[in-house]
Amino acid sequence: MKKPSMLSHVVTYAPEEPVHDAAIEDINKEAFGPGRFTRAAYRIREGGPHDRNLSFVALNADHVVGSVRLTPIRIGETDAMLLGPLAVRPAWKKQGIGAALMRASMEAARLAGHKLVILVGDEPYYAPFGFRRIEGHQIHMPAPVEPSRFLACELVPHALKDVEGKVRHACVVGLCC
Ligand SMILES: CC(C)(COP(=O)(O)OP(=O)(O)OC[C@H]1O[C@@H](n2cnc3c(N)ncnc32)[C@H](O)[C@@H]1OP(=O)(O)O)[C@@H](O)C(=O)NCCC(=O)NCCS
Repeated sequence: MKKPSMLSHVVTYAPEEPVHDAAIEDINKEAFGPGRFTRAAYRIREGGPHDRNLSFVALNADHVVGSVRLTPIRIGETDAMLLGPLAVRPAWKKQGIGAALMRASMEAARLAGHKLVILVGDEPYYAPFGFRRIEGHQIHMPAPVEPSRFLACELVPHALKDVEGKVRHACVVGLCC
């Protein structure tokens, strides 16, 4: 039997491309199951495409082992981004791949001039990347979201101040990428 080489464990990161779509769908299916289609964040993402320049894959050779996506949204009158899904293949978890994908996408969003990123997820995982609970805002997702899992990261100070309204895909309000 062929011995696994050191290279078999090397992971690289790259902006997402259409060729990765099928593998990403598979990873998200594995991570979130059929319930993913009813989630509030999925309902928003149905409204249009994600931004491939700000969405990243983790690759082992040509195989996608992790993925994160950012989608342009509007919250009331404010432009923002929605992060997710973030998922890593089970065999590749706990090696810092999720964190590296988070850093890549957040840094790309910052460099692209975005000010605010929101997501629905576990605060203990996302807090180290600057996400805090969205509290005291009238921000409405298209389906119920547990308040403790509704998080935002301000890429510029006070980006969340006075933000309120319905969260929709940017394409739905005519601001498509
Ligand atoms: C969440 C996920 C993307 C993390 O990927 P990863 O490559 O394993 O992440 P990292 O290696 O950067 O970090 C691993 C650490 O995060 C912790 N972690 C994983 N999921 C977590 C969660 N939901 N809440 C809190 N901590 C979590 C792990 O226990 C591990 O902790 P340790 O370093 O103390 O052992 C991956 O576990 C996954 O695909 N989960 C299923 C999909 C999912 O739930 N995505 C959304 C997360 S809310």
